Amino acid sequence: MVIPNGIERVFQPEEVIVSKTDPKGIITYANRVFCKIAAYPEHELLGKPHNIIRHPDMPRGAFKLLWDRLAAGHEVFAIVLNLAKDGCHYWVLAHVSPSYAADGRLVGYHSNRRLPPRQMIEALKPIYKQMLDLEATFSNPKKAAEASCQHLLGLLASLGTEYDRFFFETLNQILDREALVAR
Ligand SMILES: Cc1cc2nc3c(=O)[nH]c(=O)nc-3n(C[C@H](O)[C@H](O)[C@H](O)COP(=O)(O)O)c2cc1C
Repeated sequence: MVIPNGIERVFQPEEVIVSKTDPKGIITYANRVFCKIAAYPEHELLGKPHNIIRHPDMPRGAFKLLWDRLAAGHEVFAIVLNLAKDGCHYWVLAHVSPSYAADGRLVGYHSNRRLPPRQMIEALKPIYKQMLDLEATFSNPKKAAEASCQHLLGLLASLGTEYDRFFFETLNQILDREALVAR
């Protein structure tokens, strides 16, 4: 088990971390950037479940939402905190999409990750913390994931939005602000 050391690893904005999985989330491909940032040699990733880089501060409910949306055939954008083999952590803006064979059969999933804008991470942190705190009140992990996923969806509904809209509106606002600052 990897123990987090509290040190953040920040990668370059032009780097893209890529992995592919089978339909169960077993890693079938990891690019060189993935291996470098996650500090794993390729052979220690291939054939392993993708939770090999799971960080304990990521709420279960976030992954439930990811898998529920993938199961419904959606592409998913998410801000994810990952844990490298050396104990460092790194935030990613992930785009996960289902891959289909020519006959329409699901063959697996594909995830591309870029460096998220800092404000996006800061906007998500308190929400993930609320979800984690809620999960800690459950002894059953499945129930914990369901409750915190519902909490997130409820929070978005109370703001009059839903997941994708919230994600892109927040992202666009941040990028607009960054573009103004850069001028
Ligand atoms: C294509 C793909 C990419 C994934 N990438 C990550 C990732 O970068 N980090 C992560 O913790 N989980 C990732 N997951 C989700 C994991 O499969 C898993 O659901 C999650 O780590 C929670 O693990 P747990 O159920 O053991 O708590 C990914 C899943 C898929 C299908």
